[in-house]
This record gives sequence, C-alpha cells and structure tokens, in this order.
Amino acid sequence: MQQYDPVALLEAACSVAELAHCPYSGFRVGAAVATRSGRIFSGCNVENASYGLTICAERVALTKAISEGHPTFVAIAVVASGVSIPYPCGACRQVLQEFCDSELPIHLSTLDAPDVVERHTLADLLPHPFVFEKP
Ligand code: THU
Repeated sequence: MQQYDPVALLEAACSVAELAHCPYSGFRVGAAVATRSGRIFSGCNVENASYGLTICAERVALTKAISEGHPTFVAIAVVASGVSIPYPCGACRQVLQEFCDSELPIHLSTLDAPDVVERHTLADLLPHPFVFEKP
C-alpha cells in the first residue's frame, strides 16, 4: 500500500476542522484523506438550517478528492471537538466502502486531546458492508 504520513493527515484534519460550518450543533469535524497519488484532501462538516442537508466532514473530503481526479485512497484521519473519539457515522462508513479497500487505515482523534489517537480499519468499523450486485 502507498505510504502516507499519519501525523500530517491528522494535522490536516485538525486545521480544516477550524473551518467547520456548525452553527446548529457547535460540533466541529475535520477529515483528511491521503490518495494513492500522494495528495491530501481535507474537508469539514457543513451544516444547514434544514438539518438533513448537513454534509459530514468525511464525505466533503472524499468528494473533493474524487472530483479533482484522485479517487483512490490509502488512509483517512478524522478529528472533532471535545475529547470523545469521533467514530464516522454509518453513512460515511458506507461511502468509504464505495471507494476504499476494507483494510483502509482510519485514524481518529480529537481537537482537545490530539495526542490520543485510535487506529481502525474500514473492515473493523463496517464489518458487513452493503455491496450491490447486479441481478
Ligand atoms: N458529523 C460529521 O462531520 N461526521 C460524522 O461522521 C458524524 C457527524 C457532523 C455532522 C454534524 O454537522 C455534526 O457532526 C453533528 O452531527
């Protein structure tokens, strides 16, 4: 698997969390993906007054990379406000499944305790993903 720097990825996630548009929850989330092409793309959560239109940080980072022509990922880092580890929501896990290997490393930390980092894989967090098979 392509090399990447987990520290740089977590730093990118922390930086972009500052840009979160989260007037409703007050919960800042930052995500950064490392691409096979050697780039890092980051994204923050973008909330909306119509709450259901909110976009998670993970999906912002992924869609930025994909729409810039970098659709293959080797790792993701996610950080959020507070001290509780921000496990990606179910929707984001399924979107990761669409584009990433089940062994994708997922680095998780927080803005208030950035030295505490958990590392999981996509298979750990989404053990039985939905996969579409044409009938
Ligand atoms: N959020 C994310 O950005 N990623 C997740 O995986 C879960 C939740 C955001 C959405 C919303 O802006 C805030 O966290 C509270 O749900």
